[in-house]
Order: sequence, then C-alpha cells, then structure tokens
Amino acid sequence: MELFALLCSAVIFVLEIGVALGSNNIYKDIFQNYAKELIPTWNVPTPLKLSINAAPSTIVSFTELEEKLTMTMSITVNWTDHRLTWNPTLYNNTHVLTIPPHDIWLPYLYLANSVNDVKPIGQEADFYVILVTNGMVYWTPGGVFEAQCASDVSKFPFDTQFCSFIFTMWGILPGEVEYDVYSKVPDLKYFFANSDWTVIDTYQNGSLIGGDSSAFVVGISIKRKPVYYVVTVILPTLLFCLMNPLIFCLPVESGERISLGMTILLAYAIFLTIVAASIPAKSDPLCIVLLVLVCIMMVSGVIVILTIISAYYYYMEDISHANPCLRNLTLRFKQKQNFRDKLNLEENKDTNSNSFSDSSFSGKDLSKTLDIIFCVISFVLFIGILSAYFLYILIA
Ligand SMILES: *[C@@H]1O[C@H](CO)[C@@H](O)[C@H](O)[C@H]1NC(C)=O
Ligand SMILES: *[C@@H]1O[C@H](CO)[C@@H](O)[C@H](O)[C@H]1NC(C)=O
Ligand SMILES: *[C@@H]1O[C@H](CO)[C@@H](O)[C@H](O)[C@H]1NC(C)=O
Repeated sequence: MELFALLCSAVIFVLEIGVALGSNNIYKDIFQNYAKELIPTWNVPTPLKLSINAAPSTIVSFTELEEKLTMTMSITVNWTDHRLTWNPTLYNNTHVLTIPPHDIWLPYLYLANSVNDVKPIGQEADFYVILVTNGMVYWTPGGVFEAQCASDVSKFPFDTQFCSFIFTMWGILPGEVEYDVYSKVPDLKYFFANSDWTVIDTYQNGSLIGGDSSAFVVGISIKRKPVYYVVTVILPTLLFCLMNPLIFCLPVESGERISLGMTILLAYAIFLTIVAASIPAKSDPLCIVLLVLVCIMMVSGVIVILTIISAYYYYMEDISHANPCLRNLTLRFKQKQNFRDKLNLEENKDTNSNSFSDSSFSGKDLSKTLDIIFCVISFVLFIGILSAYFLYILIA
C-alpha cells in the first residue's frame, strides 16, 4: 500500500512538472531566435507604428520659480512585433500572455523637456508587457515627470499655465517611428483633482519637433485656484487701501497719523514679500499684482509725506508765507462754512460776511483744507489703481 501511495505521488509530481513545462514552452518557443536589441521593423523599410495614449493621474506641483510642472502619468504604448506570434491551438487556446519586460524590444521614450536627468521612461520598475497572439505588444510604463514650461504669471493669482510634455525616442533615424494617438485628448479616467490647480484643457498628438524627428506631445492647461491669494493678499490690500486715506481724518494732535501711515506702509511691504516669494523673479511679462502693490506702496509712502506736510501747516504760526492758492482755497471753504452757519442761525447778525481776511483763519484751517484735498486725491489714486488692475484681469 505504501509503495502504491508513493507511486501515485510520483506520478502526480511528474504530471505537475509536465504542466509547468507546457506553460514554459510557449515562452521558450516564442523567444527562440528573437533578438530584443532589434527594432521590430529592422528588416522592412516601413516605419514602426506606435499607438500611444497618455493617462495623467495627478498634478504633483507647479513651481513658478523653477518653471516646472510635476505630474504623474502613465503612457500606454502598443505596437506590432511580427516575430512574436504563436498558434493558440498548440498552447491550450492561450491568446494573451503577460510577461516581464526584460526579454522584449521596448521603445525607449525620453521626456525631451525634462528638468531632471534624461533617462528612458519605465526603466526603474518592471512594467509588465502584454503579448497578444497576433504579435501585438501592449506596454504601460508610468512615472513622475517633471517638465520645464515657461510660466506666464502676469495675471497672478488669476493665471492659467500651459505646459507640454514632449516624449521622443532618441538614437533612431528620423522617420523610423510614427506616433499614432488613440484620441485627441489624454485619458483622464484616473485623474485625481488637485487642490491648487484645475485642469481646463488637454490634448495629445504626434508631431514633428526640430524639423524631422517625431515626438509624442501631451499638452495641459491648468488654472490656479486663486482663493488663497485672494484671502491673504488681495482682500487685506483692499482693506488697507480704503483705510489709508482715512489717516487724514485723524486729529493731528493725537500724533497717531504718522505711526498709522507707517504701519500700513509696512503691511504693504509684507504683502509684497508674500507675492514676490511665489512668483518667478525674472519673468518676461511682469506680474501685474506686483506692479500694483508697488504702486500702492508708493502712494502710501506719499501719504506719509503728505501727512507731515499737513502737520507742518497745522502748527504754522505765521500763515502769510503760505501758498496763496492754498490760502484762497481755505478762504473759500471757510466762507462756505460760514454761509451754512448763517443759514442755520438766522438771528446771528453780528457776523460780517465781508470781514474775511487772512487774519480770520489759522494754520489749522490750512491744514484742514489740505487734509480734505489729500484724502480725496489718495482715494481717487487707490480706486484708479485697483480698478485698472481688475479691468486688466477681466479683459486681458
Ligand atoms: C493598438 O491597440 C489599438 C486598440 O487595441 C488598436 O486599434 C491599434 O491598431 C493598435 N496599434 C498598433 C500599432 O498595433
Ligand atoms: C486547458 O484549458 C482548460 C480551460 O480552458 C483547462 O481546464 C485545462 O486544465 C487546460 N489544460 C492544461 C494542460 O493546462
Ligand atoms: C497638436 O495639437 C495642438 C493643439 O491642438 C496643435 O496646436 C498642434 O498643431 C497639433 N500638432 C499636430 C502635428 O497636429
């Protein structure tokens, strides 16, 4: 009995080996006389047709400073290698095989506009290859790609960036490979939304670069989600712009005017630092928000100077040297005020409307007139600058 059991297990063992050999045989049969160093079309004059499709999955980051878009993406390539065909009936109707990539010719695609080391994609991991009985080979390598793309930050933080990933094969003669895209747009089935950027447009096509070498190009347009910069930069700037001219409404005696003016000036400097830190230092179209902040800062600086001028008049004792225009204007303001007072107090007859002269007002009145003028001018300036900025954002 024991002998019989031993015999049985031996037979089963031999059978198992046979099955294993059977599935091994197809691999050996297919790859005998196969030279993986040779391109499938090495002996025919027609170009190798590569069907190709990109499937972006995430936007890792876009760095304006380095002008670099980092994206994870997989690329499905399929081609026909006539050397790799078999008869399925001889192999228990096996139509599809999944094999490791080491033994087969693969297209070495490079990212031409990479900011990193230039190395063929799909080499750092074993992306398995699917083989179909008629010689069709499907290969889907993927990775993190970092492409250089010029950034246009003129509309920051409402900007849209465009970036293209140019994949090409090096070391082959021009015209030896043809790219044929599955569709005009990449496959976004596996795409995960990014919290900073919205994808607004994508395309892919096979095109010529540098005149004669063909390349596979994936283009992507992304739009920044501006909420962060609106909340941290634009809204506070608006608030300070409204607040800044109100300095002229503070009483001169309080002594708070200059310090408030300086505080606001410093706040602008901080916003300028925040914005300047997140955009490229050297950008051909200048970032308009930077320009706007610099203009606002200049107006704010001028406001501090005007505050000092106003204070100077406020404490002026002898106003006969003051600017005659300013004295005239002050006189006019005073007359108007007196006229109003007279309307209010009809019985107050002792006011002589013709008795106004330089002596009837002081430096304080001059300073008050200046305050009104400066306040209005700075308001108009701020509103002008801001509305010009928003018009530019909306129209351009
Ligand atoms: C690639 O695969 C697609 C779909 O399976 C097929 O239509 C196309 O002809 C293949 N391309 C090549 C070059 O074999
Ligand atoms: C052949 O395939 C059939 C199912 O299609 C399976 O039941 C059978 O075990 C296979 N034979 C071998 C030798 O692998
Ligand atoms: C590829 O698509 C882009 C955008 O649609 C287009 O500008 C470009 O001309 C196309 N290239 C080719 C070779 O079709």
